[in-house]
Amino acid sequence: MKKVLTYGTFDILHYGHIRLLKRAKDLGDFLIVAISTDQFNELKGKKSYYSYENRKEMLEAIKYVDLVIPENNWEQKISDVKDYNVDIVVMGSDWADSDRFEYLREYCDVVYLDRTEGISTTEIKKSINKR
Ligand code: CTP
Repeated sequence: MKKVLTYGTFDILHYGHIRLLKRAKDLGDFLIVAISTDQFNELKGKKSYYSYENRKEMLEAIKYVDLVIPENNWEQKISDVKDYNVDIVVMGSDWADSDRFEYLREYCDVVYLDRTEGISTTEIKKSINKR
């Protein structure tokens, strides 16, 4: 069984998220999604619209997602990969040009998936605010 792990906040779920999750799941058999906790978002200077519990509930209802776990800090990735026997970590292509997650190659594959053009949680929030 090939296990895939990806990270994100997944606030105000949209089709860009769904497509990312579908493509991530297609890389293996079991998809784990680590979502930023409210405390971790605060540390990053962000505040999600939906709480961690609500975001988790929505992600768990998606057919591509097998398990949702909390992302509490930047340093947990190696232990996540080991604890859950992960084969592939998927990151958004926004990270493809940085070395930020390359250290994980010592433990698993790292795959960057292109973002869906023209949609993001930030854009949705801006657009609703304008109305
Ligand atoms: N994602 C994607 N296509 C989009 C938006 C997001 O493939 N149009 C992917 C990201 O690359 C990431 C995952 O979805 O792997 C979760 O991203 P997240 O940052 O939670 O969503 P965004 O919509 O990018 O949120 P924000 O605008 O707050 O950054």
